[in-house]
Amino acid sequence: MADRRKLAAGNWKMNGTTAELSQIDALVAAHGDAGCEVLICPPATLIAPMVARAGGKIAVGGQDCHAAEKGAHTGDISAGMLRDAGASHVITGHSERRADHGETDVDVRAKTEAAIGAGLVAIVCVGETLDEREGGRTLDVIDTQLAGSVPDGATGDTVVIAYEPVWAIGTGKVPTTEQIAEVHAHMNARLKERFGDAGDAIALLYGGSVKPSNAAEIFAVDKVDGALVGGASLKADDFGGIIAAL
Ligand code: G3P
Repeated sequence: MADRRKLAAGNWKMNGTTAELSQIDALVAAHGDAGCEVLICPPATLIAPMVARAGGKIAVGGQDCHAAEKGAHTGDISAGMLRDAGASHVITGHSERRADHGETDVDVRAKTEAAIGAGLVAIVCVGETLDEREGGRTLDVIDTQLAGSVPDGATGDTVVIAYEPVWAIGTGKVPTTEQIAEVHAHMNARLKERFGDAGDAIALLYGGSVKPSNAAEIFAVDKVDGALVGGASLKADDFGGIIAAL
């Protein structure tokens, strides 16, 4: 069995100004030597100052990147620019980007390829809506998104997958441990089929209403290698509780 990396990742979404950089000082002090990788993906405006503040103890990532290296794309940021700002990771295909910006699997794959090309680890998000789950289509949706969004040649060093059921994001609703186990085992099997040992080494995160109070139970599920955390990553105390459980 592959030795998949453990990762506690925070996605600040569109939250945070320079005033909130103090959260990083608290995280570094309490968890700078955690046995797992700790990552915060703040808004792009905070990447460079957060990198400076984190002093290499906490990794910093972007929340999205453009597929192109540069050019006439007003408001967009390339993977190379994220790298240049000190980021080590970038989230691709978050359901909020798929919904708000109409990103397709083809778009997500192109962004993921650009991220890997720039030397970033891409955290590729997949997950079903409530309708899809209730219609018994969860594993089909995951298959389609994995096949479409993850580029050829993916390895545990270049890609992480985050399973984020859309209905669990920011709602306080969490799938049962059996439901998480089913999807994570399925993703691991699909990645192994496609990439062999390299696929087995791709870390699998769970995301959606993870809190200090439920983190240990979620992390105990087979093939859950960490979490992608939204709301509870905004406060160092809450995120610290999640890191401690990993
Ligand atoms: O990317 C993390 C996210 O979508 C989960 O958000 O607030 O439910 O932890 P939240």
